[in-house]
Amino acid sequence: MAPPFPLLILLLLVAGAGAGAAAPSNAHACSSAEANTYAFCDASLPFPVRARALVSLLTLDEKIAQLSNTAAGVPRLGVPPYEWWSESLHGLADNGPGINFSSGPVAAATIFPQVILSAAAFNRSLWRAVAEAVAVEARAMHNAGQAGLTYWAPNINVFRDPRWGRGQETPGEDPAMIAAYSVEYVKGFQGEYGDGREGRMMLSACCKHYIAYDLEKWGKFARYTFNAEVNAQDFEDTYEPPFKSCIQEGRASCLMCSYNQVNGVPACARKDLLQKIRDEWGFKGYIVSDCDAVAIIHENQTYTSSGEDSVAIVLKAGMDVNCGSFLIRHTKSAIEKGKIQEEDINHALYNLFSVQLRLGLFEKTSENQWFTRLGPSNVCTKEHRELAAEAVKQGTVLLKNDNSFLPLKRSEVSHIAIIGAAANDAYIMGGDYTGVPCDPITFLKGMQAFVPQTTVAGGCKNVSCDSTDGFGEAIEVAKRADIVVVIAGLNLTQETEDLDRVTLLLPGKQQDLVNIIAGVTKKPIVLVITGGGPVDVSFAKQDPRIASVLWIGYPGEVGGQVLPEILFGEYNPGGKLTMTWYPESFTAVPMTDMNMRADPSRGYPGRTYRFYTGDVVYGFGHGLSYTKYSYNFLQGPNRISLSQSPVPGLISRKPAYTRRDGLDYVQVEDIASCESLVFSVHISVTNEGAMDGSHAVLLFTRSKLRVPGFPLKQLVGFERVYTAAGRSTNVEIKVDPCKHMSAANTEGRRVLLLGSHHVMVGDEVHEFVIEA
Ligand SMILES: *[C@@H]1O[C@H](CO)[C@@H](O)[C@H](O)[C@H]1NC(C)=O
Ligand SMILES: *[C@@H]1O[C@H](CO)[C@@H](O)[C@H](O)[C@H]1NC(C)=O
Ligand SMILES: *[C@@H]1O[C@H](CO)[C@@H](O)[C@H](O)[C@H]1NC(C)=O
Ligand SMILES: *[C@@H]1O[C@H](CO)[C@@H](O)[C@H](O)[C@H]1NC(C)=O
Ligand SMILES: *[C@@H]1O[C@H](CO)[C@@H](O)[C@H](O)[C@H]1NC(C)=O
Repeated sequence: MAPPFPLLILLLLVAGAGAGAAAPSNAHACSSAEANTYAFCDASLPFPVRARALVSLLTLDEKIAQLSNTAAGVPRLGVPPYEWWSESLHGLADNGPGINFSSGPVAAATIFPQVILSAAAFNRSLWRAVAEAVAVEARAMHNAGQAGLTYWAPNINVFRDPRWGRGQETPGEDPAMIAAYSVEYVKGFQGEYGDGREGRMMLSACCKHYIAYDLEKWGKFARYTFNAEVNAQDFEDTYEPPFKSCIQEGRASCLMCSYNQVNGVPACARKDLLQKIRDEWGFKGYIVSDCDAVAIIHENQTYTSSGEDSVAIVLKAGMDVNCGSFLIRHTKSAIEKGKIQEEDINHALYNLFSVQLRLGLFEKTSENQWFTRLGPSNVCTKEHRELAAEAVKQGTVLLKNDNSFLPLKRSEVSHIAIIGAAANDAYIMGGDYTGVPCDPITFLKGMQAFVPQTTVAGGCKNVSCDSTDGFGEAIEVAKRADIVVVIAGLNLTQETEDLDRVTLLLPGKQQDLVNIIAGVTKKPIVLVITGGGPVDVSFAKQDPRIASVLWIGYPGEVGGQVLPEILFGEYNPGGKLTMTWYPESFTAVPMTDMNMRADPSRGYPGRTYRFYTGDVVYGFGHGLSYTKYSYNFLQGPNRISLSQSPVPGLISRKPAYTRRDGLDYVQVEDIASCESLVFSVHISVTNEGAMDGSHAVLLFTRSKLRVPGFPLKQLVGFERVYTAAGRSTNVEIKVDPCKHMSAANTEGRRVLLLGSHHVMVGDEVHEFVIEA
């Protein structure tokens, strides 16, 4: 029954009066008649003017109340409260208070695959399309009053160590590829429109976590207090590039500073770095701390001697808003004690209000953009579901396929068994930062739709698999089936926020289960690996009883539907690993060692395909398909001459440097026109098999001389390519030598090696020379 009219009014008044807490809301400022008198509501003025006008009207207390993710309203000016923290990593997630699935008509949202899986598709259009779809759902949910407009994704830290619990959230271990992903995500998600100068946005995305954050807990080290010791060389060519692209090219409107210290200084207090981002990279947006990252500076890192000092150091460094309530509680006394001036807060508020203005939160009439009309019917749509399925298909990586065991033929499989704790668990599909799925399909349910006679056995109670109690039942189920698929791998009980892995092996007794099942089946088995981080599956690689190994990451809510489509060849897999799969022996390397480069003198093997010198289980870029592709270089440079460039004065300072070992190089900052050096490589891709397919074509380069400190090879371009059976497709990949072929020297300056280089695709190699 509806409440009588006066009661309704009363309820509204009460809700409006609680200005402190900002529940998810779609309330906009400047909607009342009196608002017309405020300059900050005057749409004819530029955003900076309006932002400053609003700051000038606020009292100190009102200003301080803005410095938290849960920002208070300013009722006297008609400014509603705002919750800055919403999450959208691979679909709308309820990790932050900005999203509430039970406070309105939107009760679920599409869960796309975890980022590490979509990344493996190496398809920029796919990344863009997923970001746009998530944005549509976000905006629809905002319009329904259940979500904010500011989202703290993507996570673009380099997946530096295979044990990292949040590596699954990232695109992988290659800085250039992460950079490319970040640009698509941010552009797709923010949907900038209108006058480019003003930068109006549909939503705001956030490049996180700045910087060198990639450890949750290892031994006595924890992310809250860890001091990441990063040398200038690795900083320049590993840790920083994703952030630079995310901001410069993606034009992200938010940056999150991380918990950890970087060379002894808390990341949120690195004034030098935060200022560089605004001054040199042209960042226009707000800088938010990771949650409680200011509180810990004093309390846990004991970096400052008081809470007020922490407040002062971050505000002066350029952080604008704190996730948490620490600034709300300590800013007033920081001012009273003279640690900061009101001016330091004004900067922050200006940045915050500018972003809100760009998002249309201060438009008096509800704007009539296409996205302001989105609603519940735009969430969990068939279209988004199909896109999610497409992302699983494109990202899934076929690691092993002896004698073309896959694809299976439907006519030959009347009874299939799925073994594994994950077989019938919808939870495990999502990975971390997951919300409420629309209609999740487990592996079991998906398989049943394909093969009516599908039987299942967990084998283990859960992924931790600490008992063999269920093995007997699994053996019986496996024996009776024509084909057996074992689902093994990881869950968030092994890897997630605040939890790194201690081993790269399959959890608990999972490997025993796989081996026992492989020993009793009529035919070799298919092993499907779930999870974000690499797993040492050397045992399976070598075992002929395990015909095929497929990695499916955390495939999101439609993962169960897609798996049989791949197994039965309705889709030809073509994803490639974006992460080196190290053997278990790698766990001897301290997770705290941030060095990327190998150091033989102390037995340090280096990290990622660019520098790691040890054995791999499967390398970065590994991925098979049901067909066979071959490559041919059609066209590539033979000679790149820095001095013969059409641009005069190409090399502005010293032409080149000759090292004692005779190796020549040039500093990238000395090259006046990097654009003139960009070259194209034309490759013909031939599908020599009988099945059409699309797959990721990865182009690497390396200097012909193996130079210590330089990458063994590096990814300089990639393109996903469709090629019909028996046909060829031509691909053009552009390479920017300054950006992609350079590496940092020990001082952190980028240099380009002169002399012979190789450009490589598959087993094909083309040689060319870079000369001064
Ligand atoms: C979400 O909304 C429901 C209904 O309004 C409310 O009961 C619940 O407390 C909210 N959840 C959170 C986390 O705010
Ligand atoms: C890349 O992804 C888009 C979006 O899903 C898709 O339409 C396209 O076919 C993909 N490209 C290839 C070569 O698979
Ligand atoms: C930080 O220190 C506070 C106060 O000693 C303690 O309550 C809290 O648990 C610590 N937090 C972390 C993340 O270690
Ligand atoms: C995966 O982890 C979640 C959360 O810990 C747990 O509830 C679920 O049972 C696990 N699933 C499996 C199959 O282990
Ligand atoms: C996994 O199952 C075991 C029993 O085999 C149980 O003790 C453990 O708590 C379960 N773990 C999770 C995360 O559910």
